[in-house]
Amino acid sequence: MPNTIFQDCEETQICNGSILIEGMRFPAHLYAPKTIHSALAYNARADDIFIVTMPRSGTTWMQTIVYALLNNGQGFDENLDDFIARNPFLEMHGSNVVEAMPRPGAIKTHLVFEHIPYHPNAKYICVVRNPKDVCVSFFRFIISLSPEAAKNLSFDCLFEQFLAGQTGHADYFDYLFSCWEHRDDPNVLFVLYEDMKANIRSSIIRVAQFLNIDLNKKLLERTVLVTQFDYLKQNRFNERIIDSEPSTTIEFVRKGIVGDWRTVLSDEQSRRLDAHFYEKTRDIPGLNTLWHGYNVFNSCT
Ligand code: A3P
Repeated sequence: MPNTIFQDCEETQICNGSILIEGMRFPAHLYAPKTIHSALAYNARADDIFIVTMPRSGTTWMQTIVYALLNNGQGFDENLDDFIARNPFLEMHGSNVVEAMPRPGAIKTHLVFEHIPYHPNAKYICVVRNPKDVCVSFFRFIISLSPEAAKNLSFDCLFEQFLAGQTGHADYFDYLFSCWEHRDDPNVLFVLYEDMKANIRSSIIRVAQFLNIDLNKKLLERTVLVTQFDYLKQNRFNERIIDSEPSTTIEFVRKGIVGDWRTVLSDEQSRRLDAHFYEKTRDIPGLNTLWHGYNVFNSCT
């Protein structure tokens, strides 16, 4: 079979550079199968807070917000080690790290909701973002990881993978549907990246209420300040968060706008993604109009 390697490891397959587990695909150069399995087997606790996202949907932004709210307005840069320790990445760091994390903190995960360890009293903050910006941000992210990726991956190729649900982790719609289904659960907060951009104060107030944090005006304004895009950029979030490989910079914080897709998607790609979105969501009232008002989709049926 050309260009395809299958390698069994417990219940794991590795295919074309991706680890395949439970219908999700994890880039093999970033994740270890054993760690992913340990993440899936983690016993969720009542005091857990999960930040649940498809990559490139606003995970980092939400992490800084939750951290500031839990730590009296502290910015990530005031104690970087503490920020990192209180924000473990479940499937990358594994269950041992999460079990040992200082609390309160928030567990980052890109697992699809159904696979996230569940406890009825744990809290799950789901951040979703429109698929066009996720697709473009994903592409920028991947090509920033290595010169080889930049050379070998075209946007057109990534776009086709995105439509087919074959980019890293899982199909965009697996995330969207699974978070949407749980949006009214008492222990789930469903947040739109675009709403955060439109009104960060009301988004922070929602998060604080969800976490039962007593939010006064000072804490609100401090949280706005230390989590805004310019603050993260000026304090070199990207450079400082990667302590293992100082030569690498991962663009967690890149451009931070709604509608960057317009600079990359062709008209035809934009139309195809419109059609794909409506095809997938047309029978789901509320979801099919979720981004109305943000000028994302050009046609609706
Ligand atoms: P862009 O690539 O479109 O700029 P994640 O953390 O889930 O990987 O999401 C990354 C995306 O969130 C990037 O989008 C990044 O720039 C954006 N982002 C990070 N911090 C932000 C902030 N404080 N305000 C707005 N967008 C932010």
